[in-house]
Amino acid sequence: MQRLDDIIARSDTAAAWRERDLAVLWHPCTQMREHLDPAGTLPLLPVERGEGAWLVGRDGRRYLDAISSWWTNLFGHAEPRIAAAIARQATTLEHVILAGVSHAPAVELAETLLSIAPREAGREPLAKVFYADNGSAGVEVALKMAFHWFRNRGIEGRTKFIALDNGYHGETLGALAVGDIPLYRRVYAPLLAEALFAPSPDAYLCEDGESPAERAHRAADALAALLERHAGEVCALILEPRVQCAGGMRMHDPAYLKRARELCDAHGVFLVCDEIAVGFGRTGTLFASEQSGVQPDLLCLSKGLTGGALPLAAVLATQSIYEGFLDDSREKAFLHSHSYTGNPLACAAALASMAIFEQDDVVAHNRATSQRMAQFAMPFADRPHVADVRQAGMIVAFELTRGGDKRTPFNPSARIGLRAYREALRRGVLLRPLGDVLYWMPPYCIDEDALQLLADTTRAAIDHAIEEAACA
Ligand SMILES: Cc1ncc(COP(=O)(O)O)c(C=O)c1O
Repeated sequence: MQRLDDIIARSDTAAAWRERDLAVLWHPCTQMREHLDPAGTLPLLPVERGEGAWLVGRDGRRYLDAISSWWTNLFGHAEPRIAAAIARQATTLEHVILAGVSHAPAVELAETLLSIAPREAGREPLAKVFYADNGSAGVEVALKMAFHWFRNRGIEGRTKFIALDNGYHGETLGALAVGDIPLYRRVYAPLLAEALFAPSPDAYLCEDGESPAERAHRAADALAALLERHAGEVCALILEPRVQCAGGMRMHDPAYLKRARELCDAHGVFLVCDEIAVGFGRTGTLFASEQSGVQPDLLCLSKGLTGGALPLAAVLATQSIYEGFLDDSREKAFLHSHSYTGNPLACAAALASMAIFEQDDVVAHNRATSQRMAQFAMPFADRPHVADVRQAGMIVAFELTRGGDKRTPFNPSARIGLRAYREALRRGVLLRPLGDVLYWMPPYCIDEDALQLLADTTRAAIDHAIEEAACA
């Protein structure tokens, strides 16, 4: 009885908290009207604390964080080794300007990142690290560096970036300019620098009888033609290796990146790999570029860099790019900065996170977990309305369409994904689909019971969403 009272009291607290929150907060990536709607179109989840793969709500219930809190969390919430590293650093040096100043966490992390970065035989390695404080800012750094490098050499005409259809690189105006997701981009289009877009190698778009590798080569042929048409105008190609995450967890064959690397070399264009979402073990290897045997000229990292504990981004560049900025002129320097560049707390969290990869043999552990995820996911292929089940390491996605036919997506107004989200949350799983794509991208510490819950809940959420939409 006492337990019941406790649950009721906590639920009241959760409801009161929602009111308090909505009185003052404007939440990211959210149509706030859906939160304010008394019908509960979009429920708000008040969270009290995190424990491993779980979030504990103010209602006292546990919710499985199946999306690693926007793909940031690697080893579970409140990971004690990362927490201890942050606490230690906080009592030593919490922050200091990085211009003209040096500190151990920034240097040690740079050394570590350079030692684990993708490497390609015969290519000059990534040799320098520039810090920013979130993924979009990291993308801005890489784009500006690529452009500025040519300027510094007196080459004025290389002003364009090539990006991929359906790609995503963040929300700041520069990053948005090389993104291709209409929902985020369309309204700001008049403000955005012009970019060139090449067809995505997305395997979901394979034509009848076409293999993912053939699709990748067809897309690479189109990239070759685009580079040819704009010879001498392009400074960089930016792409997400292996998985276009925000674009609906669309996956492609590693052959594409290999061809893209060759084409960039042939045209003297920098290759920027945005591994902000796919880096640090997400796709089965430490970095997704490794699966293509490719090393970029500029590598963008963020999200999992700190294990998901603190915001930080790192852009890794070759020595040649770095040397392109050495000059007597200050204008030729890379004068980009953020107040919190190289924040010691974030760097300490990242160092602890990198140590965990070794201590826990994370990539090997993930190999086993991703095999279990495959076993749980496979039966979904036979379910009605599931058009595609795809996986890259620790990412699994389910594409829902009418009758499971790729050519007949659900009408967006049916809000299938949102209906599934609500049902999953009711059952204790935080899923947050991308449109009508449901996906699993859990913290690496997810265990067998949680995987079972995830699979059961996903199945129930899909069935519920379809049924509810049919009745609406
Ligand atoms: C591939 C990719 N690049 C860049 C970003 C932007 O990162 P942030 O949200 O930290 O600005 C994201 C965020 O989802 C991403 O997935």
